[in-house]
Amino acid sequence: MSREKTVYIETYGCQMNVYDSAAIHDFLARDGFLRTDDPARAGIVLLNTCSVRDLAEHKIISRIGELRSLTRRGELNVDLIGLCGCMAERLGETFMKGHNRPDLVVGVDRYDRLPGILTDLLESGRSASAVSIGHLADMHYVAPPEAMPTNNSHLVTIHKGCDYRCTYCIVPATRGPQREKKQDVIIEEIRNIVAAGGREVTLLGQNVTAYRNNGGGFADLLAAVSAIDGLERIRFLTGHPHDMDRELIEAVAALPKVCPWLHVPAQSGANRILKRMKRLYTAERYIEMVDTARSLIPDVTFSGDFIVGFPGETDAEFRQTLDLVRHVRYDQTFNFKYSERPDTPAARLVDDVPEAEKKSRLALLMDLQQEIWEDISAGCIGETWTVWCEGRARRPQGAVKCRTANNRKVLIENCDAGLGDALRVKIAGHRKTTFLGEIITDER
Ligand code: 5AD
Ligand code: SF4
Repeated sequence: MSREKTVYIETYGCQMNVYDSAAIHDFLARDGFLRTDDPARAGIVLLNTCSVRDLAEHKIISRIGELRSLTRRGELNVDLIGLCGCMAERLGETFMKGHNRPDLVVGVDRYDRLPGILTDLLESGRSASAVSIGHLADMHYVAPPEAMPTNNSHLVTIHKGCDYRCTYCIVPATRGPQREKKQDVIIEEIRNIVAAGGREVTLLGQNVTAYRNNGGGFADLLAAVSAIDGLERIRFLTGHPHDMDRELIEAVAALPKVCPWLHVPAQSGANRILKRMKRLYTAERYIEMVDTARSLIPDVTFSGDFIVGFPGETDAEFRQTLDLVRHVRYDQTFNFKYSERPDTPAARLVDDVPEAEKKSRLALLMDLQQEIWEDISAGCIGETWTVWCEGRARRPQGAVKCRTANNRKVLIENCDAGLGDALRVKIAGHRKTTFLGEIITDER
């Protein structure tokens, strides 16, 4: 196979992009393009990009420059650099005029056109540029089952876009309105994953809990996916606290295949800020949702996202975020400094929290989470858990990495378990976010 038609995709941002990259590889393979995970072997590099924060976009622009200079120096041999993902959708043709420009730009609903565009560029002597952006309502990707899915969990995108209008968020602009993949298409996709040996799926979307199809909601989809023979575990990302109502929490509790782990971004603990963000819940409602889930779902764990320094956030309001974090006791939080995104509703507000203040709030939030995690993990020592093996750990030699249903990582030393094996372990200690487990029973 020629290097010209060998494609390396570098994926940035969220899991939706990871899934889309798999779909792109599938489209390309059907037209005779070959996949590589080593940029040194590639004639074509595609950057699947993220626009959610300013920093993510800057990284891409410098990465294009870096790829060009590595090629000039002969360390890489890249003929074509393509840009896809949210940044492609957002900047489109403007991108083709800028400094460090790619050779092609393809928006999030047009990946089926990539093989044609690349073939044209290769045939025309690589001097042309191509842009294809814009939303297509009925374009849903179905990626083939991956051979080695991340965390053992096969990603399945169930909808694209978002109908919420969180004022800081660029997603409604880059991914368009929410459009569901049909339930029978999702079921068929998961049946194929199970037929290929998969045992676990992660249902993906910007807002999976808002899923609607055939008059049913996300709880009905969870029930339908649960009914698939041979499938063992179902995770989902991302849930919106507004839609995480009692009915849905009861469904998670009642369906044994649905894992007791909720990723429910709170973003802030201050009601005035939540309102300015248009998050559709108050801190009290959020806490009520968490308490309901704790009372109904045994062993449930939570993770969440937070934005510090949103326009107008006072120190007292930031402290309310810390209070909420203390109450919820998340296993993990993803914390971000507010980054103004062009043309979002929040861009009309004055970005008035100084950078140094954003930094110090971020550090305080991270320190608090660290303290909470130390406490949670110390309390786990001596417990007995079921874990599933996700493959060999990089270090130490002979160890395997595993995960619990509620998304905790466990390392077992001197263990020859294989992918997907279930083990009963006693928790002996922890290092950062990974627990150390000792095998009690091997359920292989
Ligand atoms: N600034 C900072 N963080 C943001 N996020 C989304 N938009 C922004 C922004 N403009 C964060 C939110 C979201 C996560 C994926 O990224 O916390 O949940
Ligand atoms: Fe963005 Fe809000 Fe939609 Fe999430 S729910 S993608 S934060 S608009």
